[in-house]
Amino acid sequence: MSNSTKSKVIFDRVSKSFDKRGEELCVLEDINLEVQEGEFICLLGPSGCGKSTMLNIAGGFERPDTGSVTIDGVEIVEPSDKRVFVFQEYGIFPWASVWDNVCLGLRKVPRAERDRVAQETIDLVGLTGFEKAYPMELSGGMKQRVEVARALAVKPDVIFMDEPFGALDSLTRLTMRSELIRIWKQEKPTILFVTHDVDESIQLADRIVVLSSRPGRIAAIIDVDLAHPRDLASEQYSKIKGELYELLGVKDWG
Ligand SMILES: Nc1ncnc2c1ncn2[C@@H]1O[C@H](COP(=O)(O)OP(=O)(O)OP(=O)(O)O)[C@@H](O)[C@H]1O
Ligand SMILES: [Mg+2]
Repeated sequence: MSNSTKSKVIFDRVSKSFDKRGEELCVLEDINLEVQEGEFICLLGPSGCGKSTMLNIAGGFERPDTGSVTIDGVEIVEPSDKRVFVFQEYGIFPWASVWDNVCLGLRKVPRAERDRVAQETIDLVGLTGFEKAYPMELSGGMKQRVEVARALAVKPDVIFMDEPFGALDSLTRLTMRSELIRIWKQEKPTILFVTHDVDESIQLADRIVVLSSRPGRIAAIIDVDLAHPRDLASEQYSKIKGELYELLGVKDWG
């Protein structure tokens, strides 16, 4: 990595156990990861390997048993408005319009500035003209755009995305991936994106962090050195795909 990059999020020897009916369940063990500013990282791994727990620790919702997570050199000990989460489409408020949903994180921002930022982000995610619409009037993909707009509007330090497109149909999911890349290239936020979808990780990430389960450890970090939009039929793409499936212990995928 060149010297011009700056470390944004650092996981330093993070371990975490939960108590499961009297038994100690080690979920994450010795996680070390340095995420650069503006980088798009995918956390990939099987169900239950601790992906969401990693995000929850970095977001300040859980404390690690040992080690620490720092963002811009500051240890994370509690949630903050500057770190936003995007989940599946149910994250937006059904009783609020698109406009009001996007403005929810901007309550402390002066009115004129808030209006400007809200319109700018709504335009950015491609929802111009739907400002007054309510979630029930929107498709799944459009609701997800509202979520992304709400996250971007607060100019977050880091965006945590936990399987945000999991509830969408496969075509909408593809569109949302390319839309997310378009937005990310324009705004360059640092993104930690959780998925268990191998293709999704190769389509999105600068680097893919592959987690193994029980306890969750980093099995490998794979660079995806391919320009966007990525050619899913290319040889490099299949090579990375094969590598990931092997790391995940899946045979006969091709
Ligand atoms: N607050 C908690 N209390 C007790 N156990 C927990 C808690 N949070 C997570 N766990 C356990 O830790 C393990 C890892 O959970 P986590 O949600 O991080 O996995 P994941 O990789 O996100 O899985 P999935 O892909 O299914 O979302 C699971 O066995 C889960 O039951
Ligand atoms: Mg999860």
